[in-house]
Amino acid sequence: MPDLADSAFLRACRREPVPHTPVWFMRQAGRALPEYRRVREGTGMLESCLRPDLVTEITLQPVRRYGVDAAILYSDIVLPVKAAGVDLDIKPGVGPVVADPVRSPADVARLPQLDPDDVAPVAAAVGSIVAELGATPLIGFAGAPFTLASYLVEGGPSRDHARTKALMYGDESTWHALAAKLADIAAGFLAVQVAAGASAVQLFDSWAGSLSAADYERYVLPHSRRVLESVHGVPRIHFGVDTGELLGLMASAGADVVGVDWRVPLDVAASRVGPTVAVQGNLDPAIVFAPWDAVAARAGEVLRQGGRAPGHIFNLGHGVLPDTDPDILTRLVELIHSTPTVNGRTDTPIDAGSARRE
Ligand code: CP3
Repeated sequence: MPDLADSAFLRACRREPVPHTPVWFMRQAGRALPEYRRVREGTGMLESCLRPDLVTEITLQPVRRYGVDAAILYSDIVLPVKAAGVDLDIKPGVGPVVADPVRSPADVARLPQLDPDDVAPVAAAVGSIVAELGATPLIGFAGAPFTLASYLVEGGPSRDHARTKALMYGDESTWHALAAKLADIAAGFLAVQVAAGASAVQLFDSWAGSLSAADYERYVLPHSRRVLESVHGVPRIHFGVDTGELLGLMASAGADVVGVDWRVPLDVAASRVGPTVAVQGNLDPAIVFAPWDAVAARAGEVLRQGGRAPGHIFNLGHGVLPDTDPDILTRLVELIHSTPTVNGRTDTPIDAGSARRE
């Protein structure tokens, strides 16, 4: 009888030897899947996140199709903010759009708190997903304070996060008040998911890489740390894009696993996060548009570099691109599962100096 706690994904989170490198994909549920496009037809993104039947079906779709080692809850980082009462929507092909951007102390004071009842449908969905998944772990998630703040302050997606940074640099007390409120919302959303049965959580600070290490440490890290430290009993993954300079700080915020994009080789990332933290990543999501031989070669490189870390969960360096051919991802999972592991229970580490021993 397979055991959830003994799954390859949770073993890797704990930096224990694994039978095969576990793999899942950020944005594995979504537009790349025809079965997703079919069930979503006629239902808005955020509306679908509050329908437990749809959330369950969409979360399970990539597990069925790809045979990945973990599911991630179908939801969105802005869902709890919306559920708490902020007027926002997700525009197809654009992303989150906020009706009244949050820029002044009064705007921050008006931001609502999250009541767990606001996301009761998410708790219901997690319960039914976990029942269906059996020994496959479910990853819950939330948006980190900086990334959530960026959407609220800018009013929508942004390349340079200029208004967010202007608030941060120019009005530090308002910034900290905003980030603290968003930390509470993120912590509350994670608590609901863990209580309902999620086996791990990922904190998405997708846009934190736009900050210098010094600014990250001063303005962001204390708030993200508070979110991660609020989580008890399950592994915590901390992820952002273009965070090569921040990896050590992101680990120190209280992560068991740090997610890495494709810019930093995983063995280098491992040396930055230290020996007590696992790494997750980091195949360039654009590789799927190259011929299979190139995909396989790059995946092999990621496995070799990840094998030098004390724990490795295979993933893309960011989310699945919408035009991805799902069959490539199926093949990729087969390749990863059939590649002997470096940190395996039976295999000898290729680099005994840096690989973990039992
Ligand atoms: O499969 C999964 O990874 C789980 C579901 C998930 C979604 N959003 C579903 C979604 C997760 C983990 C997220 C997190 C999220 N949402 C992040 C952090 C991860 C990252 O990509 O860096 C961010 C920044 C958002 C905000 C957001 N929501 C964006 C930028 C977009 C894309 C806009 C677009 O249409 O290109 C969304 C919408 C969204 N979230 C979709 C999905 C499946 C697409 C909605 C659709 O079907 O139209």
